[in-house]
Amino acid sequence: MDEALASLAAVEQPALLEETKARYLGKSGLLTERLKALGKLPPAERPAAGAEINRVKVALEAAVQAQRERIAARQMEGQLQAQALDVTLPGRGAGTGGLHPVTRTLQRIQALFHSLGFDVADGPEIETDAYNFTALNIPENHPARAMHDTFYLDPTHVLRTHTSPMQVRYLEAHPPPVKVIVPGRVYRCDSDMTHTPMFHQVEGLWIDPAATFSSLKGVLIDFMRRFFEQDELKARFRPSFFPFTEPSAEMDIGCVICHGEGCRVCSHTGWLEVLGCGMVHPNVLTPLGIDSEAHVGFAFGLGVERLAMLRYGVNDLRLFFENDIRFLKQFR
Ligand code: DAH
Repeated sequence: MDEALASLAAVEQPALLEETKARYLGKSGLLTERLKALGKLPPAERPAAGAEINRVKVALEAAVQAQRERIAARQMEGQLQAQALDVTLPGRGAGTGGLHPVTRTLQRIQALFHSLGFDVADGPEIETDAYNFTALNIPENHPARAMHDTFYLDPTHVLRTHTSPMQVRYLEAHPPPVKVIVPGRVYRCDSDMTHTPMFHQVEGLWIDPAATFSSLKGVLIDFMRRFFEQDELKARFRPSFFPFTEPSAEMDIGCVICHGEGCRVCSHTGWLEVLGCGMVHPNVLTPLGIDSEAHVGFAFGLGVERLAMLRYGVNDLRLFFENDIRFLKQFR
């Protein structure tokens, strides 16, 4: 019996186990043979021998069952190990995308003006030259038209060179008071380190008795300080010329890179030019049937890429449009 138990315990394959079992317990197995031989024993010895055979049979059957279970358990264990899955490993999920730095900057500009009570409007990129120029007090043959490097689609349609035509469109649809910004793409036939044929502007228009030149300064200084998160940011307004505003000004802010020390970005002046602005010209309002004595207001236009470059310290405008994933990833 010891030999039988030992050979059962040594078996690893289920088929071999059944074979080994048959060798002892099968129809012509060793134990079965003994059982058959029982009749040849003297009657007096039969009960004891029969009981012994039975004891061995029960023990072997138990051993077979135990070995079956051991083999099954070992098999299961091997399978689990082969299919092992470390649920604590970080996932291999798709990487998250990110917003383009120009989009982020646009959203930031919009959020800040929204908090100052400005609505947001949106207008066509294909514009008539009437809206792009004439309605903005830039008559035909005016030198300002040449300065704009305009893409003409046909003699009367252009890709808008600025967002200012939306001042006129917005006033046509909304009688004053109005307080709105217009973000959007604009186009100029120009390309170098600081110019791309397409870029973004945000136009602002506030027509209201409260929209005086001093509130123009207040709104724009407040905006720049919050945009650059510099509470002490310096600002100045230089007299300038735009046909659609009178008086007109350009706004400079203290250099956000060197804080006035002088650097390449500010050409060692300590100042950065950031936008054009002014009081809306009567020649813009009157053709719209708006009494320019009764309605005053201001307008401004700023370049989005310019602000994005200054905020993120990007020194080449073209990086925004090359879509190099290594550049864009930094803004996620
Ligand atoms: N439209 C001008 C440009 O593209 C920027 C501008 C200047 C807009 C003065 C204004 C403004 O609204 O008042 O160069």
